[in-house]
Amino acid sequence: MIPTVAEQVQSRVDRFQYGRVVGDWGGRHIAHGRQPGPDDILLNRADYLAIAGNARIAEAICESMAAPERGDRQHALELSLAEHMRAPAGVLCQSGWEANIGLLQTIATPRTPVYIDSLAHMSLWHGAKAAGAPLHPFRHNFPGHLREEIRTYGPGIIAVDAMYSTTGSRSPLAQLCDLAEQTGSLLMVDESHTLGTDGPLGAGAVVALGLAERVPFRTASLSAAFAGRAGFVCLNGVDFVDYFKMEAYPAVFSSGLLPHEIAGLAAALDVVRADDWRRERLRQISVRIREALNAYGFDVGGAASHIVSLPGGPDLRAIAIRDFLEERGIFGAVLCPPVTPRNRTLVRFAMHADLTDTQVDRIIQACGEVRDTFGTLPPAPKHARPTGPVPVQASEST
Ligand SMILES: Cc1ncc(COP(=O)(O)O)c(C=O)c1O
Repeated sequence: MIPTVAEQVQSRVDRFQYGRVVGDWGGRHIAHGRQPGPDDILLNRADYLAIAGNARIAEAICESMAAPERGDRQHALELSLAEHMRAPAGVLCQSGWEANIGLLQTIATPRTPVYIDSLAHMSLWHGAKAAGAPLHPFRHNFPGHLREEIRTYGPGIIAVDAMYSTTGSRSPLAQLCDLAEQTGSLLMVDESHTLGTDGPLGAGAVVALGLAERVPFRTASLSAAFAGRAGFVCLNGVDFVDYFKMEAYPAVFSSGLLPHEIAGLAAALDVVRADDWRRERLRQISVRIREALNAYGFDVGGAASHIVSLPGGPDLRAIAIRDFLEERGIFGAVLCPPVTPRNRTLVRFAMHADLTDTQVDRIIQACGEVRDTFGTLPPAPKHARPTGPVPVQASEST
């Protein structure tokens, strides 16, 4: 008998409960670790510059809630953020997800190939799907493979993250700019993990590399270094703004930002620009921790930034490492499928600028104990996915 729609839905829920929670995770939801205490070190939030709760930002939010302004502060903030990123224009969105979906939906078509790094954020994949565009994944950080793909399928949109949120690896942006120009393609760069942390006054990785005029589209979540809840599309063309606001579905069909959110983001921008010491401190901490993990022999997947992940392997091994670290007061984030491929679950550390030297020592010490207890490498998966482009089908679940 054909199952009813309700039965089909229930069987999906059951597959999750019995297959994943019971089967993969031994009966405890993977996200449910210990509750952190006051002395514990939290490396599971993307507040890289440690400005969440900053008094100046909190005050701006409270003032705006008490007496919301009637003027158009959103437009002023859009201009300030664009200027910050050395661009003429930009549009605020409700989130980084909406920014990527809206942008790809408005720049790609069913006839525009979208070339996407195999580790690029899921919102880029979904944006291409929203546009009905053919997706062509290329090997992570491998412009040679991208070139072959463009040769086969023609010029299109190249979509990458400036820094990858799972591994902390950085995109070869200068090479990608060259390739985009040589092939008549357009490059879009997601700066969610580099805006605020990289470049002069935190202008981002594209500006840091002197590429602002060569990258026509940049996006960012403002939930990381800006510690807010919004996204931004940064544009090299002023006339794109009105087009986007009337054509991008997230802009048309979803409610906009609230006045106090805009006030908080404007204050965050001031803090991000003013406090260079936060970037410098973040850089020092990140270098120290990365060097220590490399010296221990961990394969940190090309991490070159303030994100670094320990390879956990199968979920249960990663859970054991997570629990082990939490017992020592170190709270990372477990990234498992669909964020990572199966059996490549990670324990991710997101560094932030207010870690003290003693805390950094504790993190390094605990990672040394992980190495001594679990080894540096997870066992080779039985059915390892070949290195190479992630098939579109498989990536739909990541
Ligand atoms: C690279 C990247 N882009 C976009 C997003 C989505 O941003 P948001 O959380 O603001 O929707 C994230 C993660 O949150 C991300 O890591």
